[in-house]
Amino acid sequence: MTPELQAYLRTAIRAAREAAAIQLAERGSDLGVGTKSSDIDIVTRVDTLCEERIRRVIAEEHPDHVVIGEELGHEASGRMRWIVDPLDGTVNYAHGFPFYCVSIALEADGEVVVGVVYDPERDELFTATKGGGAWLNGRPLQVTATAELRQALLATGFAYVEDRIELNLGVFARVLPRVRSVRRPGSAALDICYVASGRLDGFWELGLNPWDVAAGLLVVREAGGTVTGEDGGPYRLGDRVLVATNGHLHGKLLDLLQLPSVLARI
Ligand code: IPD
Ligand code: CA
Ligand code: CA
Repeated sequence: MTPELQAYLRTAIRAAREAAAIQLAERGSDLGVGTKSSDIDIVTRVDTLCEERIRRVIAEEHPDHVVIGEELGHEASGRMRWIVDPLDGTVNYAHGFPFYCVSIALEADGEVVVGVVYDPERDELFTATKGGGAWLNGRPLQVTATAELRQALLATGFAYVEDRIELNLGVFARVLPRVRSVRRPGSAALDICYVASGRLDGFWELGLNPWDVAAGLLVVREAGGTVTGEDGGPYRLGDRVLVATNGHLHGKLLDLLQLPSVLARI
């Protein structure tokens, strides 16, 4: 790994740990829950606090880089661009359901080169650098070898947009009877890292945003996984669907998902 990449990874880890410390400290406090696009799409004071902290760390370490984050600004362009979800799994966090994380990625010239996803509840740090492999608390990650849908444990998620929820319910109903089971954990960034770590064999979701997936994308690809988007080719940030698997199952899962007909209805 180049010294630059090493420095960027250190920054991402520091920022993720500082945000995570805020999340742990504020559990159970008055979260000042507000709503965004609808009454189920919520934001808490902790989401904002965490993004402020992450932006401060990045600005201190790399003042010439730009940042986009879920809560404090989606528009920024530059050669070196950080993509931040300060708290992925806000609904879980707000309900005391211990499955949420911080997700931080760095893009260089349009390509994600660093990804860090940190689960404060389990003290699990998923990291990846372009070409440098994927790691969980310093141990190398590898996707599963499962090749049969009937032996696969999958996960999905439901965006906060009503028509996407209904569409994905149709997909869910089609997939569930054909696989070992499907989970709906509620943090896309962690769900994708669980594919990387072999806890899941695959994951799909409609309507994710770049900050939900940028870091996990690199982690799962570096762990040997396959991630495709809306045209069935390699996933690109902004695609309306993401499918991440161990690779062995990918074609079979795509056949089952029937994405072209699903996407035609969005
Ligand atoms: C959400 C989570 C959830 C996924 C939603 C995301 P947030 O992010 O990742 O699992 O199903 O689509 O929006 O709002 O908790 O950062
Ligand atoms: Ca998110
Ligand atoms: Ca979030």
